[in-house]
Amino acid sequence: MAFPEKVKIVEVGPRDGLQNEKRIVPLEVKVELIERLGEVGIQAMEAGSFVSPKWIPQMANTKDVFARISRRPGVKYSALIPNIRGFEQALAAKADEVAIFSAATESFSQKNINCSIAESLDRFRPVAAAAMSVGMPLRGYISCGLGCPYEGEVSVEAVANVAANLEAMGCYEISLGDTIGTGTPLKARAMVEATLEHVPLSKIAIHFHDTYGQALANILACLELGVSVIDSSIAGLGGCPYAKGASGNVATEDVNYMLEGMGIETGVDPEKLYAVGQFISEYLRRPSASKVATVFCQNGQAGQ
Ligand code: HMG
Ligand code: MG
Repeated sequence: MAFPEKVKIVEVGPRDGLQNEKRIVPLEVKVELIERLGEVGIQAMEAGSFVSPKWIPQMANTKDVFARISRRPGVKYSALIPNIRGFEQALAAKADEVAIFSAATESFSQKNINCSIAESLDRFRPVAAAAMSVGMPLRGYISCGLGCPYEGEVSVEAVANVAANLEAMGCYEISLGDTIGTGTPLKARAMVEATLEHVPLSKIAIHFHDTYGQALANILACLELGVSVIDSSIAGLGGCPYAKGASGNVATEDVNYMLEGMGIETGVDPEKLYAVGQFISEYLRRPSASKVATVFCQNGQAGQ
């Protein structure tokens, strides 16, 4: 076991968390969410996506979000992009980095971006080259790494193969997603181990959903391998528009609590984090999916 000493938390709430919300969240709420997240000690955050507004209406105002937010020094604000057009918009919006996204299964790729995995990789190569040419850091995602809503079981080789392609394009970080949250710890570990045959440990991130209550256990299994980048979402917001029934991303508050309890540094202030979770949960009029934040809000303190 070689737990990392420090973990980088990548906050995906403003994008992955909100993209599934049916009602359009007003610009000022998105801006306040991002600005408050910037104050808790998070170093990396996905502020929105430049995708087709017909596909994901909630993200249609990402340009305005980037224009309005006050950026905190030391925090990287990134944008998810599906094609070169998204890249150009991200560049114009002065995103600090961009993230491209493929999938481990053909069916999910078709539903999510209307093309095969191979076509998505072909589409991303010029995007990656454009990013490299201007020195824009490029992140890659792989959806459905531990299960697919359409195809069921997913082989670790399928994930590792897409990861190898994303690495070859120049992604500095590759986030392995359990988009529907069906994974269990040994499977999560096997996925990382297979990916490690093509991608160095320092470039691997994990992105787990908590649909079946397995996310923290899966994270722990990967921490044991030394993975040190974890995606999570404030208040456990999320779901996936193309993965019916998938509940939220693992809650940032819960991840941070577990890491803090294990003596692993994140730089995130838990109390400020709970307050941000409370803010967005109150706006959405929904209880937070974070267990630790719920305890904190009831008792005014979390932990022993
Ligand atoms: P398409 O219909 O195959 O292609 O969509 P298209 O090129 O014909 O584009 C359709 C329309 O979108 C056109 O407009 C384009 O101009 C426009 P129209 O002519 O019909 O008026 N368009 C754009 N508009 C704004 N920005 C753009 C852009 N590109 C095209 N960049 C496409 C293909 C990829 C565009 C579409 O399928 C799409 O946008 N998909 C995005 C889906 C998405 O955002 N899914 C959620 C994110 S992935 C995720 O959540 C999983 C992840 O978080 C991991 C995990 O959770 O495990 C990463
Ligand atoms: Mg997600």
